Formats: sequence, structure tokens, C-alpha cells
Amino acid sequence: MTTRVVLGVSGGIAAYKACELLRRFTESGHDVTVVPTASALEFVGTPTWAALSGKPVSSEVWHDVHAVPHVQIGQHADVVVVAPATADLLAKAAHGLADDLLTNTLLTARCPVVFAPAMHTEMWEHPATRANVATLRQRGAVVIEPAEGRLTGADTGKGRLPDPAEIFELVRGVLDRGADASLDLAGRTVVVSAGGTREYLDPVRFLGNRSSGLQGYALARAAASRGAHVTLISANVSLPDPAGVSVVRVETTAQLRDAVVAATATADAVVMAAAPADFRPTAVSHAKIKKAADGSAPAIELEQNPDILAEISHDRARAEAVIVGFAAETGDATGSVLDLGRAKLARKGCDLLVVNDVSGGAVFGSSDNEAVVLGSDGASVEVPHGSKTALSHVIWDEVVRRFAD
Ligand code: CTP
Repeated sequence: MTTRVVLGVSGGIAAYKACELLRRFTESGHDVTVVPTASALEFVGTPTWAALSGKPVSSEVWHDVHAVPHVQIGQHADVVVVAPATADLLAKAAHGLADDLLTNTLLTARCPVVFAPAMHTEMWEHPATRANVATLRQRGAVVIEPAEGRLTGADTGKGRLPDPAEIFELVRGVLDRGADASLDLAGRTVVVSAGGTREYLDPVRFLGNRSSGLQGYALARAAASRGAHVTLISANVSLPDPAGVSVVRVETTAQLRDAVVAATATADAVVMAAAPADFRPTAVSHAKIKKAADGSAPAIELEQNPDILAEISHDRARAEAVIVGFAAETGDATGSVLDLGRAKLARKGCDLLVVNDVSGGAVFGSSDNEAVVLGSDGASVEVPHGSKTALSHVIWDEVVRRFAD
């Protein structure tokens, strides 16, 4: 069955980016009805929306009145996405005003609603907008955090519309969970670490590992699509920032540790999907290490890095927070992959451990994964081979189950 998407566009300069979002929906087979506000049409005109969506476009309730569009469009939608959502549109939606087709549609829709705000930083931070966003979130809407960066003029700050490709991914995540899925992470603050740390030997060389960051980014996206406030601590990952997620960039295990410990103070859940290097060179050369004339190789002395997962689990900032670790294991003479996973769960002191069998080296850089989620309560959930997004949702399901306990 074709999925019916309503794309609401309100009057901000980022309206032009909604054209790309619209294309992504139509090219992936969605049926899209574009409902721009009159102000949006000042930025991008009706012919553009009509041509890209293949449908007539209206801003008002007075066109095709016999078809009752102000009720029909919202009632039949599988998801309503408003991108960009201006401060004015958020205010109207929060207060239930209905003076055009888009605001009427928002009142009649019973499907998930996603707002992607874009505005100047001052407007986003104004107490009126904060209150309106809080109201909408509390009613179950997903309000994506704007991205930081260059705004309309020369100034920079928080308020940019996230990358349309990432808004698309987030909405797809909402749709995949179905109309009945609740935004069960709404109001929750979660922290995800992703990628692999680098330990520098000198200004150009480092010890690193093969982590791509794909699993951590999938976890962050999945949490955002379930309504969470997400901080993604990213170590050396070259993937686009997920929509609505605050990304903190780090390089070394020491930096990752500091960022995770700081973010954990207010977190309801922490998922350590990053692969921190366990060792770092004892001394970092400030100049590039030169080859010796006699052909000898330098000896590299290493020292152990802090174990972040063990530290935040044993010395908890918030007793009720759910802490999740990952374990990439290969079975050996001392035990099977699962035996080693159980032992690691106990050693690290976390609540859940996602155990991957990496004997073949297959998971690195792959979009798929296969795992067993072990709980400190004895639970064991097998996740069959599937996408890293599917595994992410199982992990969040297990986290949410523990919130309820
Ligand atoms: N981890 C961490 N800090 C480290 C190393 C690992 O927080 N210095 C976290 C990883 O993010 C992951 C989990 O610990 O969630 C398991 O990582 P793994 O490398 O399998 O653990 P090790 O401690 O290296 O395991 P072992 O004791 O088998 O060496």
C-alpha cells in the first residue's frame, strides 16, 4: 500500500530545501500532498510543488471545498511532516489555531506528526517558542532539534533545517514503526557513542580501529525517530549528522571519556557503541617521527586507556539510567561468544550488553548486523541477521522495557 505523506511547508528561507525532501519521498514511492502556507509560497511557488508532487497544491481551505480538503488531507495521512516549521507555525500548532489548510490539517491528523523547525537562533531560544515546542512534544509530536551552522545572513548558530536526506531518514524511521507505535522515548535524554578513537603517535600517525560508526549512527537516528533528545558522541566518523541529533566530535579515548561522562550526568540511557582504543602511546611526539638511518624501527610503548563503559556503570551519575555496552567477540578456548559476553556484562557492570560474533570480521562497515542482547537481569534476546536500524530498535525496546521497571 502506498504511504501517504503530507508535506507541510511554512514560510522560511529553508522552504527551498523542502523541494529535495519532496523528491526523496516521491522517488521512494510515497504519495505526497504538499500543503504550503501562503508565506511559504513567497519563497517557492505553487508550480514547483505541483510539478514535484504530481498533484494540485493549495494553501487555503476555499479550494475544492466539495472534497472537504481541510479534513480529508489530515485524516488520510500516514505521516505529516512540516519542513521547515517556522516559529509562527509552531505557535499556531501548539495553540490549535486553524486559519489555513496546513493548520487545519494538523488538527485533523491522527498519524505521527514531525516538525523540522528552522529559524534564527533568537527565535528558537525565545521562551515562547520553547514553550510551544514543549507543548507539541508533550502531545506526542516529534520536533526535530535544528542543526547549527550558517543561518540566512552572515550569522551562524542553532536554527538551520537539518539535511533533507536526514529528515527523510528520520521520517522513514517513524513510518517503519507504524502508525500505532508510540514515541516511547519522548521526553528522554539519551547518549550514544559511535566510531573508533585514534591514539596519536605524532602529529600525523595514530593507532586506530575499523569501526565505521554505522551502528552508533543508526542507534542515534532510531532514538530520534522515537522522540528522544539525542547526543551522539562521534569519534572519527565520516557520515552525515542525523537530523535532530546533537553531535559532539572527539578523536581520542580520553576525549571520548570526558564527553561521555559529561553527557551522562543528565542521561536516561547511554549506549556505548563506539570502539575506544584500549591503549595509547605513553608519549606523543610533537614532531613527526623520522626513519632512523640504521634502518631500526622505533619501539612504541603503550599504556592503558580508561574503560569508559565500566567507569560510568560502576560509578553511576544517575542510578535509574540504563547503560548499554557492545561486545565484539570471537569465541576461544576459554568459552563461547555468549559465555564471554556474560562475563563481560558482569565485569563492566552495565545493564545490557549487545554481543556480536565478529569471527569473520563481517560487521565492520556493513549495514547489517546480527547480535544477542544480554541483560544483567538474565534476559537474552536474539536478534537475527538484519539491518543495523532493526538491531537499534530492538536495543531501544529493551532500554524502554527497563525504564518501566
Ligand atoms: N569500551 C569502553 N572503554 C574502553 C574500551 C571499551 O567504554 N576503553 C566499551 C565499548 O564501547 C563497548 C564495550 O566497552 O561498549 C566493550 O568493548 P570491548 O572492546 O569488547 O571491551 P574490552 O574491555 O576491550 O574487552 P576485553 O576485556 O575483552 O579486552
